[in-house]
Amino acid sequence: MENCVKEKEGKKRIYLKKLISETPNKLDIINYLNHSLNLDYTMHYFKVAILFVLLLWLSSCDFNKKPSVKAAVISTSTEPYKMEHFTIENSSGITIEILNLGGIIQSIRTPDKNGAIKDIVLGFTDAEKYSGEHPYFGAIVGRFSNRIAEGKFNLEGKTYTLATNNGPNHLHGGIKGFDKVFWSASPFSNKNSSGVTLSYMSKDMEEGYPGNLAVVVTYTLTEDNILKVHYQAQTDKITVLNLTQHSYFNLSGDFSKQILDHQLQLNADQFLQTDANQIPNGTYQDVANSPFDFRTPKTIGQDIAAENEHLKIGKGYDHCWVINKQEAAMVKTATVYHPKSGRVMEVFTDQPGVQLYTGNFLDNTLPSKTGGTYGPQSGFCLETQHFPDAPNQSSFPSTVLNPGETFTSETWFKFSVNNN
Ligand code: BGC
Repeated sequence: MENCVKEKEGKKRIYLKKLISETPNKLDIINYLNHSLNLDYTMHYFKVAILFVLLLWLSSCDFNKKPSVKAAVISTSTEPYKMEHFTIENSSGITIEILNLGGIIQSIRTPDKNGAIKDIVLGFTDAEKYSGEHPYFGAIVGRFSNRIAEGKFNLEGKTYTLATNNGPNHLHGGIKGFDKVFWSASPFSNKNSSGVTLSYMSKDMEEGYPGNLAVVVTYTLTEDNILKVHYQAQTDKITVLNLTQHSYFNLSGDFSKQILDHQLQLNADQFLQTDANQIPNGTYQDVANSPFDFRTPKTIGQDIAAENEHLKIGKGYDHCWVINKQEAAMVKTATVYHPKSGRVMEVFTDQPGVQLYTGNFLDNTLPSKTGGTYGPQSGFCLETQHFPDAPNQSSFPSTVLNPGETFTSETWFKFSVNNN
């Protein structure tokens, strides 16, 4: 720009010299040209100023939708608590519905490769249905997700006895775990994300667990299409803790279809062998040459029906994989790709394990959001967590939380599409 002005100025001075030499009334011409030269400079600065103002205005304009959150009380039938419902949305059109009951994710709507938006998590259209029996659809699970053998563990020489609600075992926090309680919820929204913060105070000896435990779970939907689940907890007595998110995904958005055609890749060289009651037996088994090998992508259905004693126990996949250790704080754990819709979901976590549960116990008794009922393998869960029965297995990473410590953990679900 500066060069251009100089060049123009140079040309005018040559022209001026020529005119002076040829014209009798030199003084008039000099005055005229000098005036026009100054005007040119003024115009130039004026144009730059206008451009600058225009750029400022454009940068402040947002032509897309902004992250947003909507809140509504949808029922008072469960007094003294009110069922609250939140919808978080980002500018790519992903929406997530969350309930204060169980911190349940009621829906996640994402576009497919053609832009068609569908709900990709199992659950109920009617939020009231979540007050009844269901297999932890979309819920926050705690205090201890997964199984504790015989519902017993020892801490500092004291034995704690929990409910046995899964054969001889304690499962997912007991009779009234975190999936069935009402959380205090507060929505938030800012420039790059929106979400809901849920808090719950679990009383000392609730469901048999020691310590008053203050838990905060924050769901955040970012502008780069990541659902972040952040967990935080503090106790006033030594206790054990293992939190997870129990959404069942079906990336086709059609829950009458099984998830066997989804391609899965797991960043895990080993899984935890279990006994017949699904309690880890202490063996870390290499996945190589077994149906548990998802190190390179393969469909969930490829080996699910293989002749294998561990698949028999779980009636399919219902096992904890040991996530390969990496330097990064958030380790890429799983990638799921549904070729027909093009939907992709990646899971990242800081936890040591992931329970892949392929909905083997869904038995067509619960109504599906897309018509019909939920049958076996109509959804899969990727429950990032500590290892099952860790309070009883000293070789596993510890799940003990002491007073004065703050437990924090994070898991991300990243949604995208593959156009191939
Ligand atoms: C467990 C399954 C159980 C399901 C629903 C999963 O996390 O691994 O065994 O059936 O939750 O309760």
